Amino acid sequence: MKNDFKNDVLSRRTFAIISHPDAGKTTLTEQLLLFGGAIRAAGTVKGKKTGKFATSDWMEIEKQRGISVTSSVMAFDYNGNRVNILDTPGHQDFSEDTYRTLMAVDSAVMIIDSAKGIEAQTLKLFKVCKMRGIPIFTFVNKMDRQGREPLEILEELEEVLGIESYPMNWPIGMGKEFLGIYDRYHNRIEQFRVEDDDRFISLNDEGEIAGDHSLKENDLYSQTLEDVLLLNEAGNHFSDDKIASGELTPVFFGSALTNFGVQTFLETYLNFAPSPQPRKSDKGLITPTAEEFSGFVFKIQANMNPAHRDRIAFVRICSGQFQRGMSVNLTRTGKSIKLAQSTQFLADDRSTVDEAVSGDIIGVYDTGTYQIGDTLVEGKQAFQYEKLPQFTPELFVRVTAKNVMKQKHFHKGIHQLVQEGAIQYYKTLRTEDVILGAVGQLQFEVFEHRMKNEYNVDVMMEPIGSKIARWIENEEAVNDSMSSSRSMLVKDRHDHLVFLFENDFATRWFQDKNPEVKLYSLM
Ligand code: G4P
Repeated sequence: MKNDFKNDVLSRRTFAIISHPDAGKTTLTEQLLLFGGAIRAAGTVKGKKTGKFATSDWMEIEKQRGISVTSSVMAFDYNGNRVNILDTPGHQDFSEDTYRTLMAVDSAVMIIDSAKGIEAQTLKLFKVCKMRGIPIFTFVNKMDRQGREPLEILEELEEVLGIESYPMNWPIGMGKEFLGIYDRYHNRIEQFRVEDDDRFISLNDEGEIAGDHSLKENDLYSQTLEDVLLLNEAGNHFSDDKIASGELTPVFFGSALTNFGVQTFLETYLNFAPSPQPRKSDKGLITPTAEEFSGFVFKIQANMNPAHRDRIAFVRICSGQFQRGMSVNLTRTGKSIKLAQSTQFLADDRSTVDEAVSGDIIGVYDTGTYQIGDTLVEGKQAFQYEKLPQFTPELFVRVTAKNVMKQKHFHKGIHQLVQEGAIQYYKTLRTEDVILGAVGQLQFEVFEHRMKNEYNVDVMMEPIGSKIARWIENEEAVNDSMSSSRSMLVKDRHDHLVFLFENDFATRWFQDKNPEVKLYSLM
């Protein structure tokens, strides 16, 4: 039993896909789920109208907008590994939950559209992964289309993201002339649009095709050999250690839509991706194979069932084994809680989880007990996992209750939703107007919806647009007169002073005028 538990933990691979919308995250996820046998037909994930992904009754906004409000989790088994993919919603559904999901994974897969290179949202998500020092694997997608030169993409990785790269494979041509990939790691060529047995051509010790083959006559093959020679001589060296610390990203080229290079990617990825890693707590590092169950809440999904106003708290298991019905302590309150109703996100028919181990994500029903960042621990040794970072919001609204008689409910609702991590709270200095901050527009919509449905308060939200929020290291250097419409001075929920600058220009202008004020941003 004990050995099984350890092996179970070691088999876990828990990751998120980071990318800009349209790079191919849904398409790649779908292919991975197909390999894992978790879905039977492409279109299941994206369609969301049929199949397993429609069975969960997400909140109304989601139904209205036909999107996934917050990150969801998909799990499947492949070659002895249990793979947990955590979704990171983008575009309008981008929110702090998207960032916080990255706190719950052990590695990340970064998808880059070969024609577009690194885009804004990829950069934001990458920074969070980089801060955590987790391994990042890169999949350069859409090689079946004309894109940028592969060397240009590697340069961009190094220059824009500041990460070393090691191409595990190298494309032979692209677009209409895409012939396949030269797989440096397996020392073979994988041909595009060639059926099973003939798909792979093995290479000799010199890294060339040994016998006769029509590909040898092709200029694109010769070009690839030259490129690979250059990479061997002048490129970065492969390093397990650097991959593990997130300093070097292995790069794979492929095409998710045509399902080319995806299986090779998955198998190589599973070889190098880390199993669950130890986590920092206020009582030191907690190892994933420690026997007692522990985990932390990284996300709360509201209103799974509007009739009951209940919520689901997503828990990343960090040690031990979860068993349905077990009792755990919530460190923040010291109270004991029975984890009776729980869900795991296997993309097959099982929806209730009885057992899960470190690395897995479970959803526990919540009637208002949990807050984001809460630690759950089995047994008497209470400890608290590291606090989740607060992210710098970019969008702000001024908010009031439509009905002035509802002030009490208004403030109670805001207080609780802020505590829960759904939205960030600020107030203006003298008038104490309530200002809310978010990283994505969706957070405001969820806020408005929940205020109405859970606290019975209609709110008015006056957008004040995107701002650059900067905290102040030396608050004594700041005074009221520095506040203006372009550099609005407010307080955060801990009463720390924050400037909301109109734009980059206003930030620079302020710094030029007031060099003594030391500004900083959160994550
Ligand atoms: P996302 O989740 O990252 O937003 O991207 P998604 O997978 O939805 O892919 C965005 C678009 O890119 C889709 O086309 C998809 O078919 C296409 N795509 C994904 N991978 C590849 C690839 O390897 N090669 C090519 N040529 N296209 C790819 P769409 O027309 O926007 O959507 P759809 O109507 O086809 O679903």
